[in-house]
Amino acid sequence: MSRSLNTITMRWDGRSLWLLDQRKLPGEISYIQCSDFLAVSKAISDMIVRGAPAIGAAAAFGYLLGAIEVSKTARDNVSEAMRQVEDTLASSRPTAVNLFWALDRMHKCFDKSFDASDLIRSLESEALSIAEEDISTNKRIGVLGASLLRNNMRIITHCNAGALATVDYGTALGVIRAAHEQGKKVHVFVDETRPYLQGARLTSWELMNAGISCTLITDNMAGWVMKSKGIDVVIVGADRIAANGDTANKVGSYSLAILASHHGIPFYVVAPSSTLDSKLDSGKDIPIEERSHDEITHISGVRIAPENVNCFNPAFDVVPAELITAIITEHAVNYPPYDFRTHPGH
Ligand code: MRU
Repeated sequence: MSRSLNTITMRWDGRSLWLLDQRKLPGEISYIQCSDFLAVSKAISDMIVRGAPAIGAAAAFGYLLGAIEVSKTARDNVSEAMRQVEDTLASSRPTAVNLFWALDRMHKCFDKSFDASDLIRSLESEALSIAEEDISTNKRIGVLGASLLRNNMRIITHCNAGALATVDYGTALGVIRAAHEQGKKVHVFVDETRPYLQGARLTSWELMNAGISCTLITDNMAGWVMKSKGIDVVIVGADRIAANGDTANKVGSYSLAILASHHGIPFYVVAPSSTLDSKLDSGKDIPIEERSHDEITHISGVRIAPENVNCFNPAFDVVPAELITAIITEHAVNYPPYDFRTHPGH
C-alpha cells in the first residue's frame, strides 16, 4: 500500500487509522490507533473524532479496515460480513449524513471491485480519495465564502466546524481562515457550545493557532454580544441539510439563528455537498441524536447537578430554512428559496 494521509485530525499509514483524541484537547495532543473497524466505530461514538466530514472520512477507513479483516478470515459470505461492518459503522452516530454518504461510496466501490484481485487496494484508494477530496472541497468553499466577508467584520460561530471537524481546513472556520489568508482582518466570537464545549476547547484553540483574533463567550451571551459588540455575521457548519434548506447543526444553532434574525444579522451555513440530504424534503425527518446525561450533569468528570436530576440532551437542533441567509457549498453560495432535491452526488 503506497498512499498515505497525514493531517492534524487523522492519519492513515497503510495499516491503521490514527485519530487525534479530541476529547483531550486543548490540554493534550495524542493519537488513538484504530486497527479494526470496531475501534473506528467506537472512536466515532465516543467523539474521539467528531464533526460531520471527519466522521465520514473516518468511517470510510473503518470500512476499509473491515474489508481487510473479512478478506483475511476468508469467510463464505463476504457480502454478508461486509454488511455487518457497514451496519456497525452506520450505527455509530445518527445525525451527520456524511457518515452514510461515505459508507455508500465505499459500498459502491466494494460492489464494483468485488471480483477484482485488488479489492483492498481499490477500497484504500476510495477512502483516501474521500479524505483528500474533503480538503480540496473545503478550500473551494473557503474561497467562495470569504467573498461574503469584508475587512474588520465581527463574526459569531458555534461548535467547531474547523480543521478538527473535517479532514483539514474546515468549513465554517475554513471560510474565516480563507478571509484571514486573503489579508482581511476579522474577529470571531466563539460560543463555548454547551455541553460538550467544542467551542471553548477546539474552536478557540484552532483560531489562536491560526493567528485569527477571537473572544470566547458562553452560549447565553450571544444575544447580548450581537447587540453590544456590533456583530456583522453568524457562520456555522452543518450535519445534515434537507432538500428545502432546513439545517441540522450543533444544538444552540437554532437559538443563534433566531437571535440573528431579531438583530438583522446574516446567518450563513457552510457545508460540503456531502452534507446535503436530498432524500429528505424538510428538516422534520432529520434524526436528532440524544447523548448521555452525564454530558450535562458533569463537567470534566465532576458532577455539577444533583444526583438523579431529569435531563434532556439533544446533540443537534434544526434551523428552519427561512432563518438562513445563504448556504455555502463548494459549488455555490445558495440563496433562498433552497432546492437541493437534485444536487449532484445525491
Ligand atoms: O457533535 P459534533 O461535535 O460532532 O458536532 C459537530 C457540529 O455540529 C459541526 O458544526 C458540524 O458537524 C459541521 S463540522 C464541519
